Amino acid sequence: MNLIFATNNQHKADEIRAVIPASISLLTLKEAGIDIDIPEPHDTLEANASEKAQVIWDMKQTNCFSEDTGLEVTSLHGEPGVKSARYAGESRSFDDNIDKLLINLAGKTDRSARFRTVISVIINGLETRFEGICEGIILEERRGGKGFGYDPVFIPLGADKSFAEMTMEEKNRYSHRRKATEKLVAFLNHLEKN
Ligand code: IMP
Repeated sequence: MNLIFATNNQHKADEIRAVIPASISLLTLKEAGIDIDIPEPHDTLEANASEKAQVIWDMKQTNCFSEDTGLEVTSLHGEPGVKSARYAGESRSFDDNIDKLLINLAGKTDRSARFRTVISVIINGLETRFEGICEGIILEERRGGKGFGYDPVFIPLGADKSFAEMTMEEKNRYSHRRKATEKLVAFLNHLEKN
């Protein structure tokens, strides 16, 4: 099966490719020759994920999926959440976003947080959504140089390394994106058998 993954984020594509079987051929937007930056105008991960997949379906009528991810911090009432990419402004700087997060958490004893990924897949025009959650805590300082986004300040529950100190395989043992992708793969396998 061919699937367009509606993303320009190579980290996300690499993480998802490591989880899906070889029978699913995945093309990023660039690889599919689509040169757009799909907007994320909504106030839920679900609505943004649906919109991104729908834009590609409307353009290409090709089976496709998208994902939207947010970091939901308990003591910040779920923020940055759907605004994770632009938490510190339109420049979408990972460093500025982390700085703002650490400032907003200064002095708070509850540093629990979770990553939540929503995948929207459209097969033959019909949409289905899946969710993956990874619980953890926000560190007081950055640790590690791998990964992207908030990875240097997030330690998943049960781990002693931040996501940015892990190889991609290690991150995928815990990751929100891996959990949502496994649900997508199970769904696609089921479709192919029926
Ligand atoms: P997006 O809107 O789904 O592209 O992601 C929103 C923001 O969340 C990104 O800009 C990243 O900063 C952050 N993010 C998404 N997934 C991850 C992850 O797996 N690790 C760390 N940060 C992430």
